Amino acid sequence: MSLLTINKLTSSVGAEVIGVQPERLVDDDHLSAAVLEALEDNGVLVFRDLHLEPTDQVAFCGRLGSVDFSSDGHHEVAGIYPITLNSAKNSAASYLRATFDWHIDGCTPMGDECPQKATVLSAVQVAERGGETEFASSYGAYDLLTDEEQQRFGALRVVHSLEASQRRVTPDPTPEELARWRARPTHTHPLVWTHNTGRKSLVLGASADYIVGMDLDEGRALLTELLERATVPDKVYRHNWSVGDTVIWDNRGVLHRAAPYDPDSPREMLRTTVLGDEPIR
Ligand code: OGA
Ligand code: MN
Repeated sequence: MSLLTINKLTSSVGAEVIGVQPERLVDDDHLSAAVLEALEDNGVLVFRDLHLEPTDQVAFCGRLGSVDFSSDGHHEVAGIYPITLNSAKNSAASYLRATFDWHIDGCTPMGDECPQKATVLSAVQVAERGGETEFASSYGAYDLLTDEEQQRFGALRVVHSLEASQRRVTPDPTPEELARWRARPTHTHPLVWTHNTGRKSLVLGASADYIVGMDLDEGRALLTELLERATVPDKVYRHNWSVGDTVIWDNRGVLHRAAPYDPDSPREMLRTTVLGDEPIR
């Protein structure tokens, strides 16, 4: 029997985990193994009203894999990164507006780092309006293709860039902004990711710029169509945050985005990222 009591939140993505004490996430080996298994099965796990301490959040993530400490300096606890549009709390806040578009984290790394394995967000303050986080399964995105499409798209390669994702929210960048975006190398990924488990997913989202060898507009139209099909409302879990909620997602198997919220909103999420070890191939 599983150690976790879980209720599915939609038919395709998301499950709520009931009755877990924060301490057990930190000190119970069997529980962290069960969390990883439930994450693979459900894409997103929701722990309502958990009130996880930042240090415990980092310890919990350390049981799931290697914690990303590379963005330290934004919060007093190592391994915690505040997500807020308030630039007083996060100097990189302006980049975060790109979270309003569907995306997969880590498709355009500085080097050849793999996309993150999992991400945890805990709500410290919530927006008065908007600011929900939405999730859709990228495994589901592949599974809903016809057999013929699965065949055909298996050969396609897509160029991803930071510029593509930033342009969606800042269409008229200054030359300085453009230079900063372009300092990040572009990455070419297969459209269909065959995971170590054998499962397949589509690699879509804001960073996906164009399809190699296809007419630019035609390729972009295809990327848009695939994203739309993957994120129709009945395939989406939308998390409406309350202070104290913790949500974890499988970044290799879901697309996510934030519903727009006011930049002056107090909304603040504390994020911890578990590093990935599986290249997109
Ligand atoms: C992220 C992200 C969405 C949100 O932290 O990677 O996309 O709702 N966050 O804040
Ligand atoms: Mn993100």
